[in-house]
Amino acid sequence: MLPVIDQPFEHDMMPLPDHDGHAREDFIVNLKLYLSDFVYPFDELVYEKRVKPEFIKKHKREPKDCDEVHKAMMADNFTQFWSCIARNMQEMLWDNQIEITEKNKDRMEAYYNKVKKNPIGSLTLDSNFEMPKYIDSIDIHAMPGGYQTSLGQNDIMSGAVYDRGAYYYTKGYAGRWGEGGATAIINTIKHYYPDFKPTKILDVGCAIGWTSTPFADAYPDSEIFAIDVGAAILRYGHARANSLGKNINFLQQSGENIKFPDSHFDLVISGGVFHETSRSASEKVIKEMYRVLKPGGVCISYDIPYGGDYSLHAQFMLNWDSYYNAEPFWRQWTSMERSEFMELGGFKKSNVIDVWADRDHEGNFKLFEKPFDNIHTSAKGGIGRVQFFGAVK
Ligand SMILES: C[S@@+](CC[C@H](N)C(=O)[O-])C[C@H]1O[C@@H](n2cnc3c(N)ncnc32)[C@H](O)[C@@H]1O
Repeated sequence: MLPVIDQPFEHDMMPLPDHDGHAREDFIVNLKLYLSDFVYPFDELVYEKRVKPEFIKKHKREPKDCDEVHKAMMADNFTQFWSCIARNMQEMLWDNQIEITEKNKDRMEAYYNKVKKNPIGSLTLDSNFEMPKYIDSIDIHAMPGGYQTSLGQNDIMSGAVYDRGAYYYTKGYAGRWGEGGATAIINTIKHYYPDFKPTKILDVGCAIGWTSTPFADAYPDSEIFAIDVGAAILRYGHARANSLGKNINFLQQSGENIKFPDSHFDLVISGGVFHETSRSASEKVIKEMYRVLKPGGVCISYDIPYGGDYSLHAQFMLNWDSYYNAEPFWRQWTSMERSEFMELGGFKKSNVIDVWADRDHEGNFKLFEKPFDNIHTSAKGGIGRVQFFGAVK
């Protein structure tokens, strides 16, 4: 039996589907769960029993890297079959969200305009903002318009598409408020730095604030700042934070060039940013996160896991999105060891913590030492759990 996925939390900005829109959401997410639970786990068997033996027969050796496994798997009709469905699911998911958000556009824009008159927190957009090329040149994970599109002064559409779309994309694991990643960062902080109570927090690459808003509850006396590149996602994020009653200051800034002084924050976080960011930009971002952090402050991020210790077949599964889901930077990120990355930013390697987290079967967040310890079946055939890494400055 597949679990029934609740709809995301219905706040005032949330686009709401009609009957057919929601039926499509259910269909898409259930087919995604079915693939995860009952199809992806068999890909390894197909590799071991069919593809690898054929490869060895032909080449007189085993595949030497993930690219060779990728090429060999894609010649097998089992992998072709699920890859084709997975790519089509992704396109259907966004197409459906665009239809849903278009039907809600007037209501959401009216709410955004109402918030503008008497906001909680703030929104600072930069009319001269220069969109990074690596963002502008692709619609990441096939999300039409990407994070970058903003069509006019009141446009909130890319944020609205992200809110429901990313919830169903992550099969509900991000939580009904999209709070999952931030909650796990907060748990990681409490686990590793139990006495640490931040008062100035920066969320780099906040999108619509999924990673920012839970900090307002965890640290109610703190000031929270959240930066991202897209004006429309930030407008939506600002209005969403207002509808949830959370005090967040959203700013249109690049993590490559954070417009705050050195040593300004005692907690700097990011969620899911580096796997969507070019290698050279990622290095600049982590250096900036280090620069704006106070000595003794904490920097924590979560992202797609490092795949260096995975089998070659698991690396192929881990990197599927890089080949077929418009995620050109994902592959280089999975080959980046996290303590080395933190060291590039300026952190001491010996200070780096590296841990995995996800929900257990009851929906509670837990930390794990290893990527595949005691994992849900639904993650087995895919990427494993989300990896958290950080350090004290
Ligand atoms: C997968 S989303 C994650 C958003 C949010 N942290 C969450 O977990 O919902 C990655 C975000 O990183 C942002 N991003 C990428 N490069 C950036 C940069 N140089 N500066 C600021 N944000 C960036 C993207 O615009 C996008 O909103």
